[in-house]
Amino acid sequence: GAMRIDVVTLFPELIENCLRSGVVGRAQERGLLAVRTWNPRDFATDSHRTVDDRPCGGGPGMVMMIGPLQAALERAQDGDGPVRTVYLSPQGVRLTQAKVAQFARGPRLVLLCGRYEGVDERLLAHAVDEEVSIGDYVLSGGELAAAVLIDAIGRLQDGALNDAQSAEQDSFSDGLLDCPHYTRPVRGALGDVPPVLLSGDHAAIRRWRRKQALGRTWLRRPDLLARTELDAESRRLLDE
Ligand code: ADE
Repeated sequence: GAMRIDVVTLFPELIENCLRSGVVGRAQERGLLAVRTWNPRDFATDSHRTVDDRPCGGGPGMVMMIGPLQAALERAQDGDGPVRTVYLSPQGVRLTQAKVAQFARGPRLVLLCGRYEGVDERLLAHAVDEEVSIGDYVLSGGELAAAVLIDAIGRLQDGALNDAQSAEQDSFSDGLLDCPHYTRPVRGALGDVPPVLLSGDHAAIRRWRRKQALGRTWLRRPDLLARTELDAESRRLLDE
């Protein structure tokens, strides 16, 4: 069945609009991925539909209060099977492709998006399994981070990519950056396509791509290379 992801957010249209196009839009149309949103404002109990309040101890900004958020979260978590509840924030564990692949294997996800200065810590302690950051910078809310996570998960669903191999060849899937890509024209004002790619020698092409991936990783992201278990061929290529 489809992987289901529930998102608790004050801006459901922000999530929906982010995921309408391309591979992940198609995955939803194909029934491979089902994204549902829950707005805490719909669970507010006063006539102003209040979802935030001033921070205890003073200071700038507002904090998302427990009441409406907890009610929305409980509805999002409701349903069959276990759920994993993730809060998106810069304080979280950094997202990696390995983590994305783990999320894609299930169980079903509930994503909590914060706005303002954040969410009352007691709700996080009570209802959240893990906190995830998409990088060391501050967004105005968790929605774009949630959309990033859903996009990365969605494209890994079986049948989402037209060519199953393209997920295996992604940057990071083997711990390395991707190799360069070319298409026609093979000769042009901006230069020529590397001849090996036109040789028809599939073993040579595979070796060249591997070498390019290794070279780019070595130049641009030596930190990745240090953490990657290289196979014998890659070690030999690096030593050449
Ligand atoms: N919310 C605000 N900034 C964020 C970030 N960098 N990652 C995840 N959620 C966020």
